[in-house]
Amino acid sequence: MPTSDTIPAMTTPHPSNRNTAVVGLQWGDEGKGKIVDLLTAEHDVIVRYNGGANAGHTVVVGDERYALHLIPSGILYGDKTCVIGNGVVVDPEKLVEEVESLRDRGVEVGDNLKVSDRAHVVMPYHKEHDAALERRLAAAADGDTSIGTTKRGIGPAYADKVHRATAIRMGELLDEDRLRQKLQIICSIRSAELAALGVDAPPLDPDALAAEYARLGHILSNHITDTVYDLHGYVAEGRSLLFEGANACLLDIDHGTFPYVTSSNCSTLGIPAGTGLPGRNVQDVVGIMKAYGTRVGAGPFPSEDLGEIGERIRDRGNEYGTTTGRPRRCGWLDLVAVRYSAMICGATSIACMLLDVLSGFDELKLCTAYTLPDGKTTDRFIPDAECLAKVRPCWDTMPGWTEELDDVTAPGSLPPNAQAYLDRIESYLGIPISIVSVGPKRSQTVLA
Ligand code: GDP
Ligand code: IMO
Ligand code: MG
Repeated sequence: MPTSDTIPAMTTPHPSNRNTAVVGLQWGDEGKGKIVDLLTAEHDVIVRYNGGANAGHTVVVGDERYALHLIPSGILYGDKTCVIGNGVVVDPEKLVEEVESLRDRGVEVGDNLKVSDRAHVVMPYHKEHDAALERRLAAAADGDTSIGTTKRGIGPAYADKVHRATAIRMGELLDEDRLRQKLQIICSIRSAELAALGVDAPPLDPDALAAEYARLGHILSNHITDTVYDLHGYVAEGRSLLFEGANACLLDIDHGTFPYVTSSNCSTLGIPAGTGLPGRNVQDVVGIMKAYGTRVGAGPFPSEDLGEIGERIRDRGNEYGTTTGRPRRCGWLDLVAVRYSAMICGATSIACMLLDVLSGFDELKLCTAYTLPDGKTTDRFIPDAECLAKVRPCWDTMPGWTEELDDVTAPGSLPPNAQAYLDRIESYLGIPISIVSVGPKRSQTVLA
């Protein structure tokens, strides 16, 4: 395990019979990777339950920076078990790449990584379909209606899961004959669909794909297993589980800003279905919230600042995507949205991330309600993209602070205006802020 940065000791040791979920309360990139890394110290098993390689979770250890996409961030510890649950869509090519790049950097990846045999496979034609559909939507006659996806094939892979007959699961990569047989019909359907979407490429070759994906399956074979029985076994043994949410609640397929969402249940509601564990196995839910707002891709973002403030936040926060490198849209913190997400996810505490980025602003704004097109106000979130796009934020204005925060780690030592900002958030949400993050490193953390 890379250990050149201190992990702050948690105030109370984590009891072994309690499990924790870490979940994003905005539109992603809240700093989940950092908090999963910190909390891994006091858990035994780290579990991904949703999403795929659309996620990019950054962990900084000393001078080393890791970007994890499919493998749970707990892998850096070496002695923890990491599980990719059945709810994840796995791109085997990316997974093999990620395993190899971690091993090249001295991180142990062996029996400590388990991949569900029921997780669905992202195939190359899913990625082509994702990109082709986005191009088509962008060129729609009445304007660009694309989602701004990561083009990692996430939507088409989950669509195949729902279509059933055209889906492939990780366990099936271990039987090349069965795979080849399935791919005959899949390739003929997909080739026609890709052609209809304007992709000018030769028809998909089922034999070549079967050989390549059986090869990848063979490389991953020691990891592919029935993780549902494994997870129930860990619970029975009293090992503590940490669920690592990917994407975020406002991108949840059911509860996010549809249709500008991803294709899985990325709120904590995805945990039971995505792992095979009943919901009662999650006791603590740490909602991860940036001290301001960001979003990548299209879709409404009421508190977005398209001017100088947004640019300044982007610069100070280095707000560029971990997975795609795209500049993130930036703005003030939307408490209406965060309170909604905390409600959906059952957050029991909040980690407020990137507070250091807000140093040096004369004043800070918090969105505490929306004005609707008819002039009425509401403090309810509106998870319908078209309606949300029409609201205007109502602001609370707070005084800023000038001090840089990256060295502040002692509880109670934040500048008074920074503390007042956190107190206002806490009282609006009605949920305690248990962690304040003031830099990407493990040590740059203030625990309540
Ligand atoms: P995730 O997808 O939720 O894991 O978040 P990302 O890793 O995509 O993006 C969060 C970014 O913020 C990463 O580059 C982190 O290293 C960085 N980060 C995390 N916490 C802090 C913090 O408190 N302050 C600053 N300045 N950066 C942070
Ligand atoms: P992490 O786990 C930020 C967004 C995409 C796009 C929409 C749909 O790092 O927080 P998809 O490729 O999933 O079909 O894209 O969802 N999106 C994310 N944005 N962070 C993420 O993950 C995201 N995962 C998906 O930008 O708007
Ligand atoms: Mg990210």
